[in-house]
Amino acid sequence: MKVLVLFAHPAFHKSRINKILVDGISHIEGVTFHDLYEHYPEFDIDIQKEQDLLSKHDCVIFQHPFFWYSTPAILKEWQDLVLEHGWAFGSQGNALKGKLFFCALTTGGPQQAYQIGSFHNHTINQLLSPLRQTAILCKMVPLPPFVVHGTHAIEPDEVLDHKNDYFKILKLIINNEFDSEKAVKLNYLNDYLKMEEK
Ligand SMILES: Cc1cc2nc3c(=O)[nH]c(=O)nc-3n(C[C@H](O)[C@H](O)[C@H](O)COP(=O)(O)O)c2cc1C
Repeated sequence: MKVLVLFAHPAFHKSRINKILVDGISHIEGVTFHDLYEHYPEFDIDIQKEQDLLSKHDCVIFQHPFFWYSTPAILKEWQDLVLEHGWAFGSQGNALKGKLFFCALTTGGPQQAYQIGSFHNHTINQLLSPLRQTAILCKMVPLPPFVVHGTHAIEPDEVLDHKNDYFKILKLIINNEFDSEKAVKLNYLNDYLKMEEK
């Protein structure tokens, strides 16, 4: 299995958490790390190149900080341009069929704030539902998100623990040791490893 990480952070030089999460990721055999803001600072996305990249991978990850309950803008532009009718969706659009999809995101808000009745009044999965449904329309297999919450207060050791878990999950996927049927039942992909330990 090959994993494509579509990374979007418009101010990577200021990043604290994503900087740690992506450190060394491109050295994992089977991972292609693709930094969208680095490649397309003017948003001039090369549709053919992006579709070719997608075709060569079995798992697609949107990795990004959570911005206004969504992705940074370039990931929306990317979807609008790259996911063409007749290619990604529609009766003849099968290019992405069966590929795994998930978001790996970081949020300023702590986990307890992402509950109905709490500060953000929605769960992360509710807020990510347009992305999940987009993946379904493209005949992909949507997995729960991998989330690092509470980025303003989190300790460096805890970020490293998340990074280790993230890399372990990527390696399981690459080595075909990942059970997507089990994973889809989770709210957070972070919990996959704990489930495997039981
Ligand atoms: C424009 C903007 C919008 C943001 N919107 C949200 C949001 O909707 N929810 C949230 O929890 N955090 C929000 N944040 C906080 C970021 O998610 C947080 O700073 C980021 O995940 C930290 O990762 P980094 O260290 O890699 O930059 C926002 C930050 C910015 C700059």
